[in-house]
Amino acid sequence: MHFPTYLLVSQLVSALVINQRDSRNRAAYFLDDNPNGSSIVSLKINPLDGTLSDPIRTYTGGEGLQGLFMSATPGVPATPGATDPLFSQDAVLVSQDYLFTVNTGSNTVSMFFIDKNAPWSPRLINTASSVGEFPMSIAYSPKLKTTCVLNGGAKAGVACFSTDHAKGLTPLGSFLPIALGQTTPPVGPPGTTSDIVFNPSETALFVTIKGDPPSPGFIYVYPVTSSGTISSAPKISNPSELVVDFSISFLGSDSRAVITDASYGAAIVDVADDWSVTVEKKIVVAGQGASCWGAYSQRFNTIFIMDAGHSNITLVDPESGDIKGFAVQNAAGMGSLDTAQDQTYLYTLKGSPSISVSDLSGLTHGAAPKEIQSLDLSALGERATWTGMAIYPSS
Ligand SMILES: *[C@@H]1O[C@H](CO)[C@@H](O)[C@H](O)[C@H]1NC(C)=O
Ligand SMILES: *[C@@H]1O[C@H](CO)[C@@H](O)[C@H](O)[C@H]1NC(C)=O
Repeated sequence: MHFPTYLLVSQLVSALVINQRDSRNRAAYFLDDNPNGSSIVSLKINPLDGTLSDPIRTYTGGEGLQGLFMSATPGVPATPGATDPLFSQDAVLVSQDYLFTVNTGSNTVSMFFIDKNAPWSPRLINTASSVGEFPMSIAYSPKLKTTCVLNGGAKAGVACFSTDHAKGLTPLGSFLPIALGQTTPPVGPPGTTSDIVFNPSETALFVTIKGDPPSPGFIYVYPVTSSGTISSAPKISNPSELVVDFSISFLGSDSRAVITDASYGAAIVDVADDWSVTVEKKIVVAGQGASCWGAYSQRFNTIFIMDAGHSNITLVDPESGDIKGFAVQNAAGMGSLDTAQDQTYLYTLKGSPSISVSDLSGLTHGAAPKEIQSLDLSALGERATWTGMAIYPSS
């Protein structure tokens, strides 16, 4: 029976290839930005089905502080928000064998080493001053071996660090102030800093800042100079179509990105050679509450938009910017916040003390994502101080 044997061998080979890919140890992480002492919460990812288990806390060596939500009622003081303590995306970042995070209450940043044999136990290398106040989002360029942090408090702006596997983070260059007029902790969400990322070629550093409606927000772009340092002269854009600019995620090239706008959904933006940013298409999500977080998957050719006010996740076609569907989530999980995509799964920090895992494999043939797990983490304590979502290995 020559033919069936041949089939069996080829199936065996493809199974081995799949197993080889899947057998790498994987972990998911978020930050508990806790005034009593912050920690990274790590979870094991099951290599066979993508589900999460075994939360472990690793202290960051710093303390958390929550941003204050302004009240709609005059005279009522601002209070810490329910589920979004930093008004940010990328409070936790994994790149290569490193994990980076922020300590808003200590004005420091932390760098960890991730051991590929036990990625759920990151090891703190060092903490360094964030130079400003209320560090709330962090970026890393492997090419430049440079980490940069965005501070969103009374002393707002960007600080960068040389990054070394043994010495950790060492201050690099001068502080790049941003005239934000904020306090520590900041009062928002309008008028607060949002996200900091390098573009895919690591030739520029992008910062998003929320406007104060109806005034538009800002995108600061700091080019990398020919000597590999971050320019102190940003190109600043404030397209009128973006008001509450939140997360920024590049769409596979340096020239296009998606920026979420908490006031209506998101926009696809174009980045010109002179680093100016213009809106190509507004993506209006009907009935949205606060579309603050975004993720892009090249593999599934999809942009994901997460809304703190709704459980369902909006799926957008990255070429046309058209909404093509929803990842339906159990409403009991509440809103959807920071999200990371890994292999065929989507990991979403929820408004309830839980993480939702969705299987995306149907997307390649037009079927909707399926929620396969809602991991209850209420035993870890208060949800209000949790933020960020990152995966090892990073894609
Ligand atoms: C901090 O500790 C106090 C006292 O133990 C506790 O009441 C509070 O819930 C803790 N805060 C957080 C965010 O865990
Ligand atoms: C989520 O999607 C499901 C299925 O389309 C729908 O029944 C539900 O109302 C949606 N939930 C929200 C909060 O929009």
